[in-house]
Amino acid sequence: MNTLDRDVVIIGAGVTGLTAARDLKAAGLTVAVLEARDRVGGRTWTDTIDGAVLEIGGQWISPDQDALTSILDELGLETFSRYREGKSVYVSPKGERTEYAGDMFPVPEQTGREIQRLIEILDELAADVGAAEPWAHPRARELDTISLHHWLRQHSTDEEACANIGHFLAGGMLTKPAHSFSVLQAILMAASAGSFSNLVDEDLLLDKRVVGGMQRLSETIAAELGDDVVLGSPVRTLQWGQSGDGTGVTAVSKKATVRARYAIMAVPPNLYSRVSFDPPLPRRQHQMHQHQSLGLVIKVHAVYDAPFWRDEGLSGTCFSPDLMVQEIYDNTNHEDPRGTLVAFVPDEKADAMFALGADERRRVILEDFAKSLGPKALEPAVYYESDWGSEEWTRGAYASSYDLGGLHRYGADQLTPVGPIYWASSDLAAAGYQHVDGAVRMGRGTAAKIAARAGESMPAYTAI
Ligand code: FDA
Repeated sequence: MNTLDRDVVIIGAGVTGLTAARDLKAAGLTVAVLEARDRVGGRTWTDTIDGAVLEIGGQWISPDQDALTSILDELGLETFSRYREGKSVYVSPKGERTEYAGDMFPVPEQTGREIQRLIEILDELAADVGAAEPWAHPRARELDTISLHHWLRQHSTDEEACANIGHFLAGGMLTKPAHSFSVLQAILMAASAGSFSNLVDEDLLLDKRVVGGMQRLSETIAAELGDDVVLGSPVRTLQWGQSGDGTGVTAVSKKATVRARYAIMAVPPNLYSRVSFDPPLPRRQHQMHQHQSLGLVIKVHAVYDAPFWRDEGLSGTCFSPDLMVQEIYDNTNHEDPRGTLVAFVPDEKADAMFALGADERRRVILEDFAKSLGPKALEPAVYYESDWGSEEWTRGAYASSYDLGGLHRYGADQLTPVGPIYWASSDLAAAGYQHVDGAVRMGRGTAAKIAARAGESMPAYTAI
């Protein structure tokens, strides 16, 4: 067992932990990053499955995610655009398939107007409430004590319009049923992307990917950090508050014990309780952490010998709110002659799919692909389901959110350090909430706070 002495120990080598470590080191502080898995990157992960390179976790970049785009530039990582030429496909709740162009689903005219009206209300709320401190808004309690599902039906009697808006925020983003989280939580999600309109604009949000996969961001930083990153070493115990000035932590992990002045818990909030804190955390943190949980979504990958949908004038983008597979996109790798589709099966639909055996699940999912893209979709050369719910060191996808009423009750304290311990992950971000961009902001912002407290000058990034 190694014993290391450092200024800062970072628990978790995802994008948050690694970007924090990089900036702290640049500010002249010493660091050690302890990572449970035998790889870096956390929820970003590129792997080769049956000969196909797949992005199993987070991958897409929006052009306005400038914390992410600037660090990718700094590290010399190239990006490429998602294929999006041709028509999209919409399968209505009645099962009718329509090919369409533009942003608006081919719904009845009245439903289209209702969708537009609901988008305008959500845009106004997102602009008014903002992402930085949604809990501080005068209407925070009111908006946090009604579920998105019920709020939508209070505002419209058009069920298809409500279902479509709910689909974007629930299945598409928070990956929890719309009855289980508040409209304030939904507004935070929208405001974190700039507006609700931005969130539903797949041309913006799903614009680019990193050549070679998003995990390269973490791998590149980890290579810079060298031996300061310890893999395969879950932290089980964090002793804290050992010196009179409130600093002082000892992180005990499988392979190394690190004595440091400060710690960053760069793991999603649902995993804080996997660590024994000694002394125990204050009551407020014990309570708060129990109200944050991860959503669930199956990311399905299907690789074909060629992107057959393109020959048929289709972009590969498909929406079908009432099918198990709600969204499909062309996810072909950079300069790859094969064609890859990626699809998402969220929340309760994922439960239903996981209740089936693997063969039956694959059959049902691919039949949904075929309802949008025809029978050729039934026969992929490679088929894979990203199952983050089974990953011990994540336990869901994409990220965590509060249960009903939790955001206004606890949000103001979620980043408050406990003695020398700081909390940071994409799940606690304002701008870029639940996204890789938010992870970069949290990593860099937390590093800046610690460097300031440690008395180091930090020319780097300050905004969280
Ligand atoms: P992350 O969870 O990545 O890192 C935490 C690290 O801590 C992990 O490596 C974990 O192993 C480690 N750890 C946990 N407990 C530990 C312990 N006790 N000791 C030591 N280590 C411990 N975002 C986006 O911008 N665009 C996208 O397209 C998508 N799509 C997407 C798809 C899927 C399927 C997923 C799962 C997620 C996305 N996301 C996304 C979200 C994005 O991937 C996510 O928000 C960030 O990668 C989170 O980074 P963090 O570093 O905050 O946490």
